[in-house]
Amino acid sequence: MKSEKILITGALGQLGTVLTNELQKKYGINSVIATDLRPNFDFNGVFETLDVTNFKAIEECVIKHNVTQIYHLAAILSANGEKNPLKTWDINMSTLFNVLEVSRLCNINKIFYPSSIAVFGDEIESVNTPQSPNLTPLTVYGMSKVAGENWVNYYHKRYGLDIRSLRYPGVIGYQSLPGGGTTDYAVDIYHKAVNNEDFECFLKASTMLPMIFIDDAIRATLELMDAPRKIISIRTSYNLAGMSFTPNELYNSIRKTYPDFKISYNPDFRQEIADSWPKSIDDNTARKDWGWKPNYDLDSMTNIMIQKLKAQYHSVVA
Ligand code: NAD
Ligand code: SER
Repeated sequence: MKSEKILITGALGQLGTVLTNELQKKYGINSVIATDLRPNFDFNGVFETLDVTNFKAIEECVIKHNVTQIYHLAAILSANGEKNPLKTWDINMSTLFNVLEVSRLCNINKIFYPSSIAVFGDEIESVNTPQSPNLTPLTVYGMSKVAGENWVNYYHKRYGLDIRSLRYPGVIGYQSLPGGGTTDYAVDIYHKAVNNEDFECFLKASTMLPMIFIDDAIRATLELMDAPRKIISIRTSYNLAGMSFTPNELYNSIRKTYPDFKISYNPDFRQEIADSWPKSIDDNTARKDWGWKPNYDLDSMTNIMIQKLKAQYHSVVA
């Protein structure tokens, strides 16, 4: 069997940091080529600085390392994306086109493309949002993910590329910081709590959104990528659910450990984005096709987040 060589784009981001580590454990440290626009001089493993808007650079990297699989994570997220919509569209689409074309030309055998709950807009049932409603996103980021899902489906149907995709909910983890999304508050709040600081939330107390703990998000990714090709029935992107909660519910979960923790609410432009997204997701197709089941709920995630962040911030150096 051909041994796998895995290229990750956007590997220094919130998901990439953790996914790189898991792929290194699974395939071996020298089988994973982590890449990002930003350099990293103390990376533990194989790292290349790579701008995915540069077709030639990706092609050279793929050939140089005999890459067989690509996880294409590089993107501009929802809130940052609204600062410069045309640039966001250009980056999100050109990076995907480059990855798709290099994959086709270099016979890459599996590709992962992350989509998002941002594909949904104001024409959905917001509770238990189904797999295939009308997709009318409010943000340029969401528009780029809808278009991306369709391009991924097109390359699968037209060229037979084995591209798999998940619509991640907001991802919450302790290992890395989020990169400019609408769900970032749900990570930032833990950092404040653990440092005994007050938290100002940019969403209203009652804004329910779908979220997922990083361990579940990474496990879902690896389970989808390991599933036999013939059982993948969705070639746009699978709905994926972890849990759903409001800022007030998250605050109350944290107060079980930090009873004096204080929160205030000062909604900004991200409120309108959050209001256009689902409150909860129907992920039955992922459950049926490849056996998806999340392990974490709000309180079990809160316990781990607090325990890990306390260790990071307050570990005593001997
Ligand atoms: P992030 O913003 O934390 O990381 C993105 C990384 O991409 C950054 O390290 C950045 O330097 C890099 N990057 C940006 N432009 C690049 C370019 N031209 N070339 C190479 N690298 C470039 O994002 P993330 O949270 O890790 O998200 C990873 C993927 O998952 C994205 O596609 C995102 O849309 C998707 N996603 C994330 C979430 C979430 O909550 N984190 C939810 C849904 C979907
Ligand atoms: N968490 C991401 C964001 O808020 C969803 O894709 O942008």
